[in-house]
Amino acid sequence: MIPITRPVLGLDEKRLVAEVIDSGWLTQGPRVAEFEKRFAEVCGCRFAVACSNCTTALHMALVALDIGPGDEVIVPSMSFIATANAVVHAGATPIFAEVDPRTYNLDPDAAAAMISPRTRAIMPVHQIGMPADMDRFRALADRYGLAIVEDAACAIGSKRRGKQIGTDGVMACWSFHPRKVICTGEGGMVTTDHEELASRLRLLRQHGMSVPDTARHGSQKLVIENYLEVGWNYRMTDLQAAVGLAQLAKLPELVAQRRRLAAVYSARLQEHPWLIPPFVPEDVEPNFQSYALQVRPGCPLTRNQILERLLAAGIACKPGIMTAHREPAYRERGVQIHLPITEQAADSSLLIPLYPGLTDAEQEYIVQTLFAIFAPIGVPT
Ligand SMILES: Cc1ncc(COP(=O)(O)O)c(C=O)c1O
Repeated sequence: MIPITRPVLGLDEKRLVAEVIDSGWLTQGPRVAEFEKRFAEVCGCRFAVACSNCTTALHMALVALDIGPGDEVIVPSMSFIATANAVVHAGATPIFAEVDPRTYNLDPDAAAAMISPRTRAIMPVHQIGMPADMDRFRALADRYGLAIVEDAACAIGSKRRGKQIGTDGVMACWSFHPRKVICTGEGGMVTTDHEELASRLRLLRQHGMSVPDTARHGSQKLVIENYLEVGWNYRMTDLQAAVGLAQLAKLPELVAQRRRLAAVYSARLQEHPWLIPPFVPEDVEPNFQSYALQVRPGCPLTRNQILERLLAAGIACKPGIMTAHREPAYRERGVQIHLPITEQAADSSLLIPLYPGLTDAEQEYIVQTLFAIFAPIGVPT
């Protein structure tokens, strides 16, 4: 089976993890601080606050803005469910808006139409690494006095006008799950240029504790901490940060390989009668965290039949990005909306394997299979 993804982990990760084990300091400590510093440099922002995953990053980001019960946050339904869940975890209400069917990103006009007196923030998602149209979200934020929290879970290495995305909102949240471009097993980060938000995030991720563990345990003097507000244990470990540091050093190479593979797919599949390669707006360079194909209307096979035939040929594949508003979790919370563009985009898209290390021969086999599954079924003589 050709997997849909495979993290690139090797000797560098092993060496740095071994150093952490030898050091005896396993939880959030010096390696986390180093990973945060390097990550902020890569993003071109002032502060990075590591945490346990991107869901907790999004949750903390909203709480740091004092968003809670009675507030609304506009999100795309077409996203991994964690985007909407983070709003619920903060006690606020996610308001689902349509996406642009070409980029799968939140549509700024659709988001604008959902703004109400209760709206506090918009959470655009750079979906599967495709940069969202942040100029238009910024304009909306300025006009209506809203915060922009970027869900950049999949988007490290994605650029707009030559610059790493993630600095257009007040905060951006990142994931290091193995399905992402760099991974730490589980892991997340919030980046921001605002010092007071970074300080609040550092409190929230560690039970609201006034003194970090490193300062408490490293001190020769008695240090007694206070708990300034009710926070969580959303810490990253130094073991994870060690993996992250090794991964971050490889980021340019990992992204270059993904872009090269994506370019091969798009060139070869341009001629496909039923499958449409991803649309890439002019001013962006996505990291191709995933490679999504759209099934043309009138296609003789359903999207799920295509997936079944790929699986039968030994090629791992997945339906496109999910929709949150159709899941029982939200239906049961009273969400009874119909989002035709979102539903059509989600139901007619699929993800095929793309990861550094996918060989040319494997990619060729995938491309040929994508054509072959549409060949007419032979009639027995
Ligand atoms: C758009 C988006 N947001 C949030 C998340 C949640 O990330 P994590 O698994 O690190 O909590 C994901 C994970 O797939 C995602 O794709």
